[in-house]
Amino acid sequence: MEIDSAVRERLTNANQTHLLAYWSELNDEQRRTLLRDINEVDFNRVQQAYDAIKHELFSEPNGHTKNEISDTIDDIMEPIPDHMAGSINEASPEQLDNYRENGLKAISEGQVCVLLLAGGQGTRLGVDYPKGMYNVGLPSGKSLYQIQAERIRRLEHLANEQFNTDSATITWFILTSEHTQEQTEKYFRSHKYFGLKRENIILFEQHTLPALNFQGKILLEEKHRLTKAADGNGGLYRALRTRGVLEKMAERHIKYVHVYGVDNILVRLADPVFIGFCLEKNADCAAKVVKKTVPTEAVGVICKVGGRFQVVEYSEISEETARRTKSESSDELLYNAGNICNHFFTLDFLQDVCQKHENELRYHVAKKKIPSVDNHGNHVSKPTEINGIKLEKFVFDVFPFSKTFAVWEVRREDEFSPLKNESGAKDTAATCRRDLMLQHVRWLQQAGADLPNDIEKHIDTTGKTCEISPLVSYAGEDLEFANGRKLDLPIFFELNTSKNNTNNSVPRNLTVVNGCTPIPIQTN
Ligand code: UD1
Repeated sequence: MEIDSAVRERLTNANQTHLLAYWSELNDEQRRTLLRDINEVDFNRVQQAYDAIKHELFSEPNGHTKNEISDTIDDIMEPIPDHMAGSINEASPEQLDNYRENGLKAISEGQVCVLLLAGGQGTRLGVDYPKGMYNVGLPSGKSLYQIQAERIRRLEHLANEQFNTDSATITWFILTSEHTQEQTEKYFRSHKYFGLKRENIILFEQHTLPALNFQGKILLEEKHRLTKAADGNGGLYRALRTRGVLEKMAERHIKYVHVYGVDNILVRLADPVFIGFCLEKNADCAAKVVKKTVPTEAVGVICKVGGRFQVVEYSEISEETARRTKSESSDELLYNAGNICNHFFTLDFLQDVCQKHENELRYHVAKKKIPSVDNHGNHVSKPTEINGIKLEKFVFDVFPFSKTFAVWEVRREDEFSPLKNESGAKDTAATCRRDLMLQHVRWLQQAGADLPNDIEKHIDTTGKTCEISPLVSYAGEDLEFANGRKLDLPIFFELNTSKNNTNNSVPRNLTVVNGCTPIPIQTN
């Protein structure tokens, strides 16, 4: 088997002929694999990406020292102007009702979809399957994907109920990667799409970029294979265009897109309050944020830099700036809008960004130990030194293109508890489980249930549980049946779709289960 001269020419032009260094050692099948990998690479894109970031590899940007850069950003950053920001804590109940109603109206008219970013590898969590399939150990055994699917179903129901319609549809677009596509697809199929209509779940795969060495040469994973890495969650914009997703959205008459990360167990998909707020602000692009827990918390903050909106990473600003407060008499941090990977876009905005600006989005560099073939032709599966770079785009890097940006602040305890780590004190399965259960306790308390004293402590110390199915309540609504009822742990409310539910003390379609045996949910 010979190498096509066109392939050779492409590699020569791209300065990547080393990819053929082991050609003579390969059998025919390996040669075919190598050629397929090479044909998949957009060498222009690789070169442009490398050219754009190479100065960062050998010196700090613009030749500054790290400290000088921090000073520069610190000097030009400004908080989000008040008129673009709103907060769930400061809005009046009437305003919140109004937002919610307008959001539900848009949902009832089929104008809202959700877009899940699920292409990440979950490296920190240490699992070899998509994070959304993770079961954090709730009594129901529901995975993150199932919880999200059921929130969609419930919200469609709420929108239909409020506006007396029966056609509210929230299409669920799911960005996958080559690491997650197949398993995600299989998982949904084998769980009958968790009761959602199959045609309303649309998976699409993000692209990859090869990993490079510091000189911009593509690293070989094996002698007949190129390294490949997902191009970051900002790879969304390229995939939206190349996979025909923008057209699908337009065909479905979708106007508003809620984008979110897979790992937040408290995520309110297509949150009608957030959507209503964005509609009132006439926002083309918006972000949901939470207050930072401490000034030095390792989250990016949303702010304005040089007059444009962006997320500034905690590592890019000085501690002094991170600690600045709104005024001398206030404890409130000046830069307090913690990014939680939860964004609103109009479809018009996405079309504009994907068609006109996708190439302008910068690449972020991650220096890594990348398993690859070394200069001596040996495969090194666990390099001891950093030997290369991966290039990623970030979902929030489109903020600067927004003409009407808005920021909506929510309560962390109600809306943000991500699953990031396998163990430790923060962002684990245990913290997700606890945060969800404590929220459900608060919902029951607000509904007037008679609960044991110190119930939170029981959950912490005895391992007893409290879970309310998303099919029963999306955000604490419709729990009036619990008013005045004496309830003891464990508590588990699930929707029972079977016809022979004879329990008269709660609404007919609802079952209270003690002992936490999950009830199978009939899918439609
Ligand atoms: C992200 C945010 C960070 C925020 C934090 C809150 C970005 C770039 N960073 O950080 O500002 O404080 O969430 O939890 O958004 N993903 C893909 N494709 C990829 C890489 C990631 O779809 O190539 C998805 C992941 O599956 C996940 C989401 O993007 O759903 C966020 O990615 P992750 O790597 O978890 O971001 P963080 O570093 O936690």
